[in-house]
Amino acid sequence: MDTLKVQGGYPLRGELKVQGSKNTVLPMMAAAVLYKGVTVLTNVPMIRDVYCMIHILETIGVRVVFSDHCLVLDASSLQSGEIPLEDVKKMRSSIMLLGALLGRLGEAVTSYPGGCSIGKRPIDLHLEALRAMGADIQDDGICIRAGTKKLHGARISLRFPSVGATENILLAAAAADGVTVIENAAREPEITELCLFLQKMGVRITGAGTGMICVRGGSGLCDTSYQIPGDRIVAGTYLAAAAAAGGDVCLTGVYTPYMTSALQVFRDCGCDVTWGKEHVRIRSDRRILPVPMICTSPYPGFPTDMQSPLMAVLAYADGISVIEENIFEERLNCGAQLCRMGADIQITHNRARIIGQKELKGAWVEAGDLRAGAALAVAAAGACGITKIADPGHIRRGYEAIDQDLQMLGGKVWW
Ligand code: EPZ
Repeated sequence: MDTLKVQGGYPLRGELKVQGSKNTVLPMMAAAVLYKGVTVLTNVPMIRDVYCMIHILETIGVRVVFSDHCLVLDASSLQSGEIPLEDVKKMRSSIMLLGALLGRLGEAVTSYPGGCSIGKRPIDLHLEALRAMGADIQDDGICIRAGTKKLHGARISLRFPSVGATENILLAAAAADGVTVIENAAREPEITELCLFLQKMGVRITGAGTGMICVRGGSGLCDTSYQIPGDRIVAGTYLAAAAAAGGDVCLTGVYTPYMTSALQVFRDCGCDVTWGKEHVRIRSDRRILPVPMICTSPYPGFPTDMQSPLMAVLAYADGISVIEENIFEERLNCGAQLCRMGADIQITHNRARIIGQKELKGAWVEAGDLRAGAALAVAAAGACGITKIADPGHIRRGYEAIDQDLQMLGGKVWW
């Protein structure tokens, strides 16, 4: 078990370029399977989920070269649609390959994906949509076998704007005969970026970033290169660390129009936050203000991935705040670990009531999932003493170098 150590009490100062976006690059890696040629992705974060996806792609016959944040994928000799089950269990994004493999090969074998334990995380929306597009999917609760002579376009209305389901449908629709219309599509930046990438590959798509996306499948694809945008959640995590520890931090390499709701919340917390298109600066030199109510919701609302880091910041507020988690039913678990550091957080159903404390103290805590682990580092940065975060591998799935990054800003953080 890895342990991330943080010695609190050091304000964060300086400038840092943010890593590429995990949740943007993973569906693009799956999209590369659609094309019998070469795809080049740059600014790719060197994180565990990317290496896991690389292992899956190599296992099914994609040739991969990954060095210095540049990923070259050659899917011209793709052989198999059978995804290694041990990899499927490691991350949610493996399910993205279902649509891409059905589009490319007409077959796929996978299982229920793993990933952060933040709720049930069903895949019913994915399977319903692919069946509507002509896939025959046998699911015995463990193994999922899918096949099709040829996918065809369909009008799909999602009961929830699922990010993953929208991505899976986009990849399947790119190869399907005819037109696919996705109603109530997810509008997250990761969807917009995936649509821009697919368009660059040669896929005809309209409505990117809106709730109604239209794809005309079957067009010829081409060699494509694409730069992955900065990770908006990693950027938000580091802003949270600066808010908790105090200081003056400037982050670059991140497209701030994708972060508006989170940036506004840091202002509501009393931080001085200014930004341009590709950079954001936060100054925090006074006690955090409470936020009476913040609700997570689909984009452009406050992102669920920022909920735990914000909870860590509000643990220091001069008053009572309430966070309502509306996306994942088990994503407030970070509260119990923060209480081990002296926070006063009461969880009832999907709400956390946070009675801010002037001070938290270093403690032994455990990362329950990726963003909860990062949130504990946020809280530890402002705490008195050393916090030891036992981590069974969550943090490194999404943060390339949280220790070095925070050290660059004057923090005392080490594995
Ligand atoms: C993606 O997960 C992200 N993961 C998550 O980030 C992020 O929190 C989430 O989108 C919401 O923005 C990746 O991109 C790899 P959903 P995903 O499908 O696709 C329900 C992180 O920390 N649902 O939008 O799984 C589901 O149970 C991770 O980087 C169904 O009911 O999110 C949940 O309540 C964590 N049936 C809600 O929709 C389905 O078939 C949102 O899920 C699919 C989803």
